Amino acid sequence: MNFTVLTLFPDVINHYCNASIVGRGQQAGLLSVNTVNPRDFSGNKHNRVDDTPYGGGAGMVMMAPPIVSAYESLGELPANTPVILTTPAGPTFNQPMAKQWADAYSHMVFLCGHYEGIDARVAKVLPNVMPVSIGDYVLTGGELPALCMMDAVSRYIPGVVQKADSVTEDSFSGEQTLLEHAHYTRPAEFRGHAVPDILLSGDHAKIAAWRHQQSVHVTQRYRPELLPPE
Ligand code: ADE
Repeated sequence: MNFTVLTLFPDVINHYCNASIVGRGQQAGLLSVNTVNPRDFSGNKHNRVDDTPYGGGAGMVMMAPPIVSAYESLGELPANTPVILTTPAGPTFNQPMAKQWADAYSHMVFLCGHYEGIDARVAKVLPNVMPVSIGDYVLTGGELPALCMMDAVSRYIPGVVQKADSVTEDSFSGEQTLLEHAHYTRPAEFRGHAVPDILLSGDHAKIAAWRHQQSVHVTQRYRPELLPPE
């Protein structure tokens, strides 16, 4: 998978993607992350990439020409390459989307919005633009959303996560719609809190049943809407 991020803050993207499991995936040649800064394509001597909105109103709008020029500098991409436009005004990203993108694409472009948004004509001029939100809150820019989505997609690229089970067993993946059960590791007792006996029992069937019950309990408490109807 090749990720290209069009961003005014390439350092933010590169810092995370060169560390972390995504960084390890890059070193292993399983994925690549490249950034292109629309500011390098501003075409004006003050390097301006934003302007006031037509029709008035608060804030600034990212101009179309630097973004489109930055995209065009990428050259030829696979025909189905999506341009994920990070915005609160789109469908909400979720685990099935992460899996589907990992399966469907060999290259993805993320376009990080800033200020009040991006000139709407960008979505008309660039191919395969998909607005996507990461949740019902407003951030100052699209870098964190792009990182969230790239990270979630990366986990589905074979080899990036060491143990394939840990991806298929995740909350929200495949058939699994329950939140995850609690996890424990050494020491067996910590500040008066012992690890539940059952986890030390070696009885795998009982452990699986206990974990499932824990998952139901956590889901009931925090996300009851995820439970199947009775
Ligand atoms: N940009 C600002 N807020 C955002 C959000 N919630 N999701 C995606 N992009 C955004």
